[in-house]
Amino acid sequence: MNNTLLAIDFGSSNVKAVIAKPDIEYNIGILGIGTQKSQGINKGIITNIEDAANSIRDAVLMAKKNTQENIDNTIVSISGNHTKSIRSSGSVNVPNGLITETEINQVMQMALYNATIVPEYEVIHVIPIHFKVDDTVDVDNPLNMNGSRLEASVFIVTAKRTSLTNIKSALNISGIDNCIFVLDGYSTAMALLDNQQKKFGATVVNLGDSTTEFVCFKGNALIFNGFIPVGSSHITNDLSEMLHTPPAAAEKLKIDYGSLIKDYSPKNDLGVTKVKIPRIGDEHTTSEVALESIQTIIHARVEEILVLIRNNLKKSGLLDNIGSGIVITGGMSNLDGLKSLAQAVFDGIPVSISSPKNIKNGFMSLDEPDMSSIVGILHLMLGKSRGFELDSNKKLVKPIKVDPRISKSAHIDINATNDDTPQRHEEKTVKPSQTNLSNLELNGGNKQAILTPLDEDKKKKGVGKFWTKISEWF
Ligand SMILES: Nc1ncnc2c1ncn2[C@@H]1O[C@H](COP(=O)(O)OP(=O)(O)OP(=O)(O)O)[C@@H](O)[C@H]1O
Ligand SMILES: [Mg+2]
Repeated sequence: MNNTLLAIDFGSSNVKAVIAKPDIEYNIGILGIGTQKSQGINKGIITNIEDAANSIRDAVLMAKKNTQENIDNTIVSISGNHTKSIRSSGSVNVPNGLITETEINQVMQMALYNATIVPEYEVIHVIPIHFKVDDTVDVDNPLNMNGSRLEASVFIVTAKRTSLTNIKSALNISGIDNCIFVLDGYSTAMALLDNQQKKFGATVVNLGDSTTEFVCFKGNALIFNGFIPVGSSHITNDLSEMLHTPPAAAEKLKIDYGSLIKDYSPKNDLGVTKVKIPRIGDEHTTSEVALESIQTIIHARVEEILVLIRNNLKKSGLLDNIGSGIVITGGMSNLDGLKSLAQAVFDGIPVSISSPKNIKNGFMSLDEPDMSSIVGILHLMLGKSRGFELDSNKKLVKPIKVDPRISKSAHIDINATNDDTPQRHEEKTVKPSQTNLSNLELNGGNKQAILTPLDEDKKKKGVGKFWTKISEWF
């Protein structure tokens, strides 16, 4: 893997593109960033190739504005919606008794060869779960070890060929010929988990616009990936449908007043109980809606997403063995009170809301939760803690060898100039934005308070309807 890379996160709400290359000390240097509203993609699937290509082209052009560097590799994250994962293993003899990159490549290729890949699927990742040298188990990195036999147990992620072909077509139209694919949940985890979390185990959940991606790590290896075709846009749709208000107004309601913990009841301390919203089809007419009702709608949908994740993890036998806890990120993790609700749903499992640590650059801050996936691509491809794996071209990705003569500091403290420890957020209160509320109006002041969660009754009312809806997807 060489020099300058273009990373693309083609999300349902935004396309993010970053051009980066390692500096002389092997730190990630950002050369350009572009973000554009997405079109032509929903739930991780291309719905309109031309629109998708235009969104990608615009984001990439924006990222290229400030750099003349040629792109050596393009990396695109893909949704778990396309994927099936399997485990496999392989073993090879070590003819000279010393394990080199050749044997590591051979054993990974052998593990891939031994796997049964469904015909319509293509390989995206072959990630080692552990290596074994002769009788020594759980070798993290077998390079330069002595032995006569090398074994590898691997986690293989495959993705549906037709879905990949559609993404490739959109990329081609936007001017990108070759690319490597990475699983969104995997790259997201790379931005957020430290080595200890990977070792003890953790589940990373990326709550996006129309997708929820989640992956589990254990003993330093990816062992599970899951996907639910629901995200924050479903909250917007629920508000729009149930309150008969246009989607743009519903989105604004969600961002400005969405809270799972504020007390919006008539006797609250906030002085806010209702807002005026435009009516769908007749935007000059407004109607009043209680913030309590908005909260109930949002609560029901978010609780349902969290319960689906919990059930999915339970079904996979991972819920009782999650290790250090659940790390939540993605644009929807900005929702006020999410941590409290997640703690209630995951009952006793530690939950944190997390964003990537910023990588310093002259363009924009990358430490927002919706930047986790793209920052993770940079760590996965250029990070100093990158390990062995086969990429989607079935080529061996190798750890970066940091030459101590070039970078003494990099060898002593790999985070010396680019501290990549992710940030944990404590529960925060959301401030209604001061920006143009168009037709929405508050009927009171805006003091904030952290108060009690919704009562059981309210939860049940909303959930019933959503369970019926969700059962249609599975
Ligand atoms: N405070 C908030 N409360 C709820 N949702 C929010 C909040 N802030 C942002 N969002 C939502 O986050 C979503 C964007 O997040 P993100 O960029 O992670 O999604 P995406 O990557 O474009 O989509 P996906 O990963 O689902 O394809 C939007 O739907 C936006 O409304
Ligand atoms: Mg996303």
